[in-house]
Amino acid sequence: MNIQTVLIFIGLSFAYGQDRKITAKLNPGYNTYSTDITLVYVKCEGVSDTIHQIWDFTRHMPTVIFAVASVNSTLNVTWTDNAPKDLIMSEEPTYSFATAIDKIYEYDDLDDNGHIDPKFPQKPYPLDKIVWHLNESLLTDKEAMVHVYGMLNGRHGRREIINIKLDLIPFKDYAVDLPHLIHTANSTLFDISLVNLTTSKEYNASRYAIHLLLVSTDPETDTMHYTMRKSLDDEHTPGVFEIIEIKSPSLFEKGEGGYLQFRPVAYLQSTRGVASSTIARVSAFSRTSLPRYSTLKLFYSNLNTDLLVQDMFVSFGEAGDGYYKQHNYTAWSFTIGYGTPPIESFSFFVIMIISIGLGVPVVLALSGITYVLLRRYRHNNNRTRFTNED
Ligand SMILES: *[C@@H]1O[C@H](CO)[C@@H](O)[C@H](O)[C@H]1NC(C)=O
Ligand SMILES: *[C@@H]1O[C@H](CO)[C@@H](O)[C@H](O)[C@H]1NC(C)=O
Ligand SMILES: *[C@@H]1O[C@H](CO)[C@@H](O)[C@H](O)[C@H]1NC(C)=O
Ligand SMILES: *[C@@H]1O[C@H](CO)[C@@H](O)[C@H](O)[C@H]1NC(C)=O
Ligand SMILES: *[C@@H]1O[C@H](CO)[C@@H](O)[C@H](O)[C@H]1NC(C)=O
Ligand SMILES: *[C@@H]1O[C@H](CO)[C@@H](O)[C@H](O)[C@H]1NC(C)=O
Ligand SMILES: *[C@@H]1O[C@H](CO)[C@@H](O)[C@H](O)[C@H]1NC(C)=O
Repeated sequence: MNIQTVLIFIGLSFAYGQDRKITAKLNPGYNTYSTDITLVYVKCEGVSDTIHQIWDFTRHMPTVIFAVASVNSTLNVTWTDNAPKDLIMSEEPTYSFATAIDKIYEYDDLDDNGHIDPKFPQKPYPLDKIVWHLNESLLTDKEAMVHVYGMLNGRHGRREIINIKLDLIPFKDYAVDLPHLIHTANSTLFDISLVNLTTSKEYNASRYAIHLLLVSTDPETDTMHYTMRKSLDDEHTPGVFEIIEIKSPSLFEKGEGGYLQFRPVAYLQSTRGVASSTIARVSAFSRTSLPRYSTLKLFYSNLNTDLLVQDMFVSFGEAGDGYYKQHNYTAWSFTIGYGTPPIESFSFFVIMIISIGLGVPVVLALSGITYVLLRRYRHNNNRTRFTNED
């Protein structure tokens, strides 16, 4: 990269407070407009690299792919009738990480503890037939956002809806909605809600779980790492102190790679709050392979690299909550990112409170000490004077 580009970029960053320059396109290279075809390509140009993001719904499985390559790299999409035919990069990415939701599971939680357990009945609902309709989109150089929804196979003649919202902003900030996850120029917020799904008659303790695929250009025999840390306060997510991170081997071992970051919390009503929250749980990882006919397969079969493919469940609920049918609604968010996961910082408000909390006693103590010292000094002085006079 030449000096000029760096200067222009730094100029841009100062002007807009952006960490990356983003360019987002809906269905690039596809000429017909249809709300049933959604593939967003976001190019995120940084000072030292460019992250190419593909958000694909055309091949049914909601998919997010991150590919990191040099500053000037490009990615082009070619099309068959209504799905990508190929995703061509100008160079082999230095790193790539992806996630996709391939199935939703309904399970009969007879132990009533929220976990999806193979010892109890369960039914997978593959998402490979769902048509995703684009409901809202905002694609500017300040934000890239899409909201799509799909009907779960139109079972039962009832509107059973899965909503998915993806959001990218080119700087670090807290998400507007609870659990107020942090998104950065290197990550994208993924929010999913399961609305009015009909539970099976033969199950009396139905809950739903999400089945996620995780892919990274790491050795096939390596593994993703689950980590949980405690935050100092629950300022941003009331009542929740834990932060869960799923780290790719590269991130875990070398400090830079793909990750998912989230809070172990889900919401049971569209108006989110502490009262409508429940627990989100992550299962262990299993090894798997790329699904056939998927955008993941399309992208990764072009690359000449190691590939780690694993999957996991995220299930929702806790004992005594009346199962899914109690609210017929579950919403959960995570961020998918590259680099190192952001850590939450104290807000100005909290810093002020802490400063006041610590400051007042310190000031009081100091003034006390000063008073005593002053008195002593005066006293000594007086005594000296007396001595002198004596
Ligand atoms: C990127 O492109 C710019 C202008 O197009 C060029 O000046 C620069 O050398 C390129 N950087 C790299 C790393 O190839
Ligand atoms: C992508 O398309 C642009 C413009 O058509 C072209 O300049 C570029 O070389 C293409 N990149 C690749 C990797 O094919
Ligand atoms: C589409 O978005 C609008 C708000 O922009 C919302 O009122 C409506 O419920 C959404 N439709 C679905 C099916 O989510
Ligand atoms: C984003 O990634 C770049 C390099 O890829 C790194 O320099 C930067 O610190 C990262 N930013 C954040 C907010 O993680
Ligand atoms: C879900 O069902 C409830 C009650 O039947 C209804 O009020 C609500 O509008 C439905 N939600 C959607 C998104 O269709
Ligand atoms: C559900 O059905 C099983 C047997 O089929 C029974 O053991 C269990 O108590 C029932 N649970 C509830 C919450 O009704
Ligand atoms: C949820 O849907 C079921 C039908 O599947 C219905 O019986 C139940 O009353 C609904 N619950 C709420 C809170 O709307």
